[in-house]
Amino acid sequence: MKQEVRDRLIFALDVDEFSVAEEWVEKLHGKVGLFKVGKQLFTRCGPEVVKMIQDHGGGVFLDLKYHDIPNTVAKAAVEACRLGVKIFNVHALGGEAMMRKTVDEVHAYCLETGIERPMMLAVTILTSSTEETLRGVGIDRPVAEMVTRLAQLTKTAGFDGVVASPQEAALIRAACGDNFAIVTPGVRPAFSTMDDQKRVTTPAEAIAAGATALVVGRPISAATDPLDAAGKILDEIEAALAS
Ligand code: C5P
Repeated sequence: MKQEVRDRLIFALDVDEFSVAEEWVEKLHGKVGLFKVGKQLFTRCGPEVVKMIQDHGGGVFLDLKYHDIPNTVAKAAVEACRLGVKIFNVHALGGEAMMRKTVDEVHAYCLETGIERPMMLAVTILTSSTEETLRGVGIDRPVAEMVTRLAQLTKTAGFDGVVASPQEAALIRAACGDNFAIVTPGVRPAFSTMDDQKRVTTPAEAIAAGATALVVGRPISAATDPLDAAGKILDEIEAALAS
């Protein structure tokens, strides 16, 4: 499988123990593009888990969704760079100044140290949020309008792209143009069950809608043969890219 196809598959390392994380990394490194480390695993295991993945030759998407005052997020982002992660993310709702300051400090740090600049993504509106959720926090706007607006703000601020539902990918692609990353979770290949994901698409549909990379967890981790499942997803991605 070509590297450029493998790079588009991000495995969600949704486990709570270092040893279990290590077993998955040993099994899947070289088969998936990156390992996504989220709040649970990072809070439990810390930077050691990032190092473990890198020691196995894997790359890391640090999914901590920073949202704070500009200075605090920018400093945290610099620490993510120091860890050598390939992708980190923030909440676009933190605003343009927060994202701009982050871009500035990350660029300056990477220039100074020679560290490869990570891809910087923003979450627009969490897919668990509905219009009712937004109204509850005083936002009287449709979800789709907010997703588009925040994706455009993300681009204006100098970020590389967004994390979004595959069902929002086409809208975002139209609003933000070609040169913009769209990373989509909520992907379920035909051979997999839905789990608790409600709005799902297949890998091929996500790519066709404009997704640049897919985050996949349980369709791989809960499969009887995880390597085979990852292989099938890569085949699907490759076919979608070629069509
Ligand atoms: O197991 P599954 O493939 O559903 O895992 C998807 C991963 O993407 C999980 O880590 C989940 O937290 C994350 N995610 C998601 N939906 C979002 C944002 C992130 O499923 N809207």
